[in-house]
Amino acid sequence: MSDYKEIIIDHYKNPRNMGELAGADKIIDEANSSCGDLIKIYVKMVDGKIKDMKWQGIGCAISTAGASMLSEKVTGMDKGDLNKFGEAGVVEMLGGEINAGRMKCATLAYRGLLKVFN
Ligand code: FES
Repeated sequence: MSDYKEIIIDHYKNPRNMGELAGADKIIDEANSSCGDLIKIYVKMVDGKIKDMKWQGIGCAISTAGASMLSEKVTGMDKGDLNKFGEAGVVEMLGGEINAGRMKCATLAYRGLLKVFN
């Protein structure tokens, strides 16, 4: 088993920052239209930057790991930082090997998080 799979499985089994965030400034729902999986993202903001992110959702291992890992990465990011991180950053975060068919899983939380700044 390759390393990237171990990282994904670890976050899938023990998702970080899962749950509701009391006093969230923004709550975003994002869905993956191809499979119907849903994520709800809670964010607290300070001065246009993400201060805290929590999330709830049911999805596959890759979407769950993507949300879990992202929730640990985005503290302190503003809109520009998040755009710069990009889908390439998501792939790298997940170990660098996501096949095209799973990209929508990998980026589910990321796509939701972008809406925080809309
Ligand atoms: Fe639904 Fe991966 S199969 S997000």
